[in-house]
Amino acid sequence: MNLDNDTTIRSGNLIEVIESQADYSLILGDALHILQTFPNDCIDCVITSPPYWKLREYDIDEEFSEDEIGIENDPKEYVNKLAQIFREIYRVLKPSGSVWLNIGDKYHNKNLMGMPWRVALAMQDDGWVLRNDIIWDQMKGTQSPKDRLRDVYEHIFHFVKSQKYFYDADKIRIKNEKLPIIDEFNTISATGVSGVKYRKQITESILLNDEEKQNALNSLENTLKRLRNGEIVDFRMTIRGAQRTFHSNNGKISGRAKELEEKGFFILSSDAKGFIPSDIWRVVPEDKWRKDTHYAVFPEELILNPIKATCPDNGIVLDPFVGTGSSVVAALRLQKKGIGIDLSEGYLKTAKKRIEEQIVAINGQFQLKF
Ligand SMILES: C[S@@+](CC[C@H](N)C(=O)[O-])C[C@H]1O[C@@H](n2cnc3c(N)ncnc32)[C@H](O)[C@@H]1O
Repeated sequence: MNLDNDTTIRSGNLIEVIESQADYSLILGDALHILQTFPNDCIDCVITSPPYWKLREYDIDEEFSEDEIGIENDPKEYVNKLAQIFREIYRVLKPSGSVWLNIGDKYHNKNLMGMPWRVALAMQDDGWVLRNDIIWDQMKGTQSPKDRLRDVYEHIFHFVKSQKYFYDADKIRIKNEKLPIIDEFNTISATGVSGVKYRKQITESILLNDEEKQNALNSLENTLKRLRNGEIVDFRMTIRGAQRTFHSNNGKISGRAKELEEKGFFILSSDAKGFIPSDIWRVVPEDKWRKDTHYAVFPEELILNPIKATCPDNGIVLDPFVGTGSSVVAALRLQKKGIGIDLSEGYLKTAKKRIEEQIVAINGQFQLKF
């Protein structure tokens, strides 16, 4: 994407994207058939939202109407079809790769079908490793049912192929709002911890022996030093018998209970680089695109973090149900490459327009504007 070599963000075919001769590719066709043409181990990150079972009808071209996912009468057939597509994705994904699957549920004869988990369990049976089940809290439910609660969440599952996979946690840390007060004589953590109370509890403890007391004091001093050096912003210390513990007291079950049993104390600290987001994400769905071409557009805010954490520099993001192209737009915005597949030519045209409209040159580099 450098001005010296290129004139713009380049569209190309699959191989051109893999060989870095193009930045993105939008491919018309059935996800399964198109994926079968991909080489092994070529994709870094998949982020996708397949059609939900019996929920929506898309603007799909006549010639592809039989391939459409989500119109099956039997939920098992839907699960099988998706599992089959994810088997093909398993083949094309690099061993270090990740899959982020957003999927919603469905009531059938008043019965909540549990479709997201049916798909997730089928994928685990095929060898996928599930790392997170993220609850996407959409914060507004449109229906007002009279005999049950409103639905406001969907699932986003994070799957990997192997125990070791690419994950850059530092890229998605949330900045700490409160910072410590550090001066020559007095250091106070972001939530007001100075260490004075802990020091007193350690020295006066009747449940710690002398060696344990010394080790606890050394660790406390070391933690305060890390606070002064700007490595951490906050910490909490739990000393045998001095604090209430909320975890299991059984050392076999809880690592912290074990530490407390063996050493007489443990310290938890908050990294100055920020904290890791939780598995509940509050993001309002995008309405902007609904009125014109599409019903279920990914809000960009939802997909930036998965790409930041699990797609390395220059990596390729794939969305096999790309619709109006949100995943490819987000990938390009983050300077990655993107491949999208969809059965609808209309949606792919919208996707291309979205990409082209957002290209800007910043400091000699072509990018998608934020
Ligand atoms: C939930 S939408 C995805 C929306 C997308 N995340 C976005 O931001 O626009 C699902 C998409 O899957 C497409 N689709 C349905 N069956 C398909 C198949 N067999 N192969 C590829 N795409 C398919 C539909 O045309 C629709 O665009």
